[in-house]
Amino acid sequence: MAHDWHGSRVNTRRVFHSVGMYLHIIKSSFTQRTSTRANEILLRSIETHLRTVQTKRTHQKLIRKIEHELRFNETKNIAVAYNDYVRRRVDKIALIGAGKMGGALIQSWTNLGLSSDNLIIVDPKPSGIVRKFANEHNVPLHENVDEIGSSSVFVLAIKPQESGEVLPRLRRFVRNRTLIISIMAGKTIRGIQSNFQSGVGVVRAMPNLPAIIGRGITAAIANEIVTTEQRELAAALLSATGGVVWVAEENMMDAVTAVSGSGPAYVFLLAEYLVKAATAAGLPIELASRLAKETVAGAGELLDHSDDDPAVLRRNVTSPGGTTAAALEILMGSDGFEALLNKAVAAATKRSRELAD
Ligand SMILES: NC(=O)c1ccc[n+]([C@@H]2O[C@H](COP(=O)([O-])OP(=O)(O)OC[C@H]3O[C@@H](n4cnc5c(N)ncnc54)[C@H](OP(=O)(O)O)[C@@H]3O)[C@@H](O)[C@H]2O)c1
Repeated sequence: MAHDWHGSRVNTRRVFHSVGMYLHIIKSSFTQRTSTRANEILLRSIETHLRTVQTKRTHQKLIRKIEHELRFNETKNIAVAYNDYVRRRVDKIALIGAGKMGGALIQSWTNLGLSSDNLIIVDPKPSGIVRKFANEHNVPLHENVDEIGSSSVFVLAIKPQESGEVLPRLRRFVRNRTLIISIMAGKTIRGIQSNFQSGVGVVRAMPNLPAIIGRGITAAIANEIVTTEQRELAAALLSATGGVVWVAEENMMDAVTAVSGSGPAYVFLLAEYLVKAATAAGLPIELASRLAKETVAGAGELLDHSDDDPAVLRRNVTSPGGTTAAALEILMGSDGFEALLNKAVAAATKRSRELAD
């Protein structure tokens, strides 16, 4: 006998029986379930159910095991499907600019099993990691866009300021059926398209930094020339780094940039200032850093795992007259967090517009 989370006695044999049963269900359902979302939903429903019968330790052990199974099988399934999908649709994917974001894309594509035979990279000063990657995977690495040749997909992961120099030189390699995927902040579809013949399909996308650990969110929009197949292909390539959402109008992309594109920096700033405030309140720096980092990361993870809105989660941890309430009174004051974030997002949106052509 053991005790569940509420202290009641539970039959451990029955618990382990249900563990085995759940793992069996998970394994047998993998043939149909390849999407991360489906697996997440499955995991959560199992988690919710088990919470009522499991002891905390066996519950956590089980969840870890399930997560491992999910990841392993999911990666295996997606890798096969992904390779197949991309192989059927493209001859070559050329990545122009292998910095932070370009590097994250290559890494995710190869993690998911996209054959490196499909890849080609252009970067004038590739980092050691990119060089090593290209060497190990036999991926052609060019310093100059003039050497790139034609490809069915060009992914533009250069800085917006570099596009004026790069795009005109790419012109001779772009055909009518070429797909251009741009992740450049602020650069409009029309501006990109004006460098090429009129029939070129352009997907404008805005990823964000957690892409480098596969936890990014990308918002995208396609021009009318992009075919359904190309759109699916773009979604497949972009979803390697996390979620993908399609927006209805291109003018939303400036606000998207200001919210999810730049957003991770706001969260890092929150952690940074929490460390400063903690040291000002008398904590040693190591302790302050650890507490701030784990708090921001843990709260983010809880938000991700919870079905509740952020406002509900906030209210749940705020007892009237308590310590959190005292802090929130400051943060939610008239010149507090909301006003500041409004101003910050408006400034980023304006800057994104200015970066356009
Ligand atoms: N970082 C983010 O969180 C984020 C989020 C959303 C969107 N974006 C967008 O993603 C794009 C890339 O950002 P990033 O943060 O990855 O920047 P980055 O690290 O500076 O990467 C840009 C890369 O392009 C290379 N490059 C420069 N000139 C080139 C040329 N002529 N041909 C080919 N490659 C060239 C750069 O090389 P050098 O280093 O030698 O100049 C660098 O490796 C930007 O347009 C940005 O707006 C970034």
